[in-house]
Amino acid sequence: MRIIRCKDYDDMSRKTANIISAQVILKPNAKLGLATGTTPIGAYEQLIKWYEKGDVDFSEVSTYNLDEYYGLSGDHPQSYRYFMDHTFFDHINIDKGHTHVPDGSNPNIDEACAAYDELMAKAGQMDLQLLGIGRNGHVGFNEPGESFSKGTHCVELAESTIVANSRLFDSIDDVPRKAYSMGVQNIMSAKTILVAASGEDKAQAVYDMIYGPVSPHCTASILQLHGDCFVVADEDALSLC
Ligand code: PGA
Repeated sequence: MRIIRCKDYDDMSRKTANIISAQVILKPNAKLGLATGTTPIGAYEQLIKWYEKGDVDFSEVSTYNLDEYYGLSGDHPQSYRYFMDHTFFDHINIDKGHTHVPDGSNPNIDEACAAYDELMAKAGQMDLQLLGIGRNGHVGFNEPGESFSKGTHCVELAESTIVANSRLFDSIDDVPRKAYSMGVQNIMSAKTILVAASGEDKAQAVYDMIYGPVSPHCTASILQLHGDCFVVADEDALSLC
């Protein structure tokens, strides 16, 4: 694992955006695994600015998002499809038909998961997988204790994740209890992985990811076994390291 130390959130966002944009410049038809959450918003904003200046072109890029709430369709304001469209895709020249998010509106779990795995298998290896990290060490929605050998699957969200994500909903009761998520197997098969982290509340998870034993108790610890993984994190997130 390579650690890239950043001053603060803005610095972390710029460096994350730099790595993503370098990937797209080096390989215009790059396949990017993308993430939602608060962490990557600054990086997406930076990439939009560089796109507007003409510095990066997304016309040939295709994207595969990590996860989606079960039961939410893409037009629901809390869905991850909605987040990606409004935060990023609607502001760059990506072909929307080349952007993929698990279908949260499909109640048939086996079908929805198989369809997403098939889509990714057809696409082939992701060139770059962007990840955030949960306060409990989850990546995607792979919560502590889950097997490392899964492909796309339906997850029962941990109580701590429901509480953390309730800030974006009117009430905690509105937070879906389940989500579709790429599994660790999907994530680990990417050529390069970039974990972005910011803030003191991530410090323990970041420490466990880098120095802890490789164990399902901290899902992100499996990334120690990936051959090309960067952690781009600010001082607060690295404060225990
Ligand atoms: P956050 O979420 O970026 O909103 O902190 C990260 C995650 O839970 O994976």
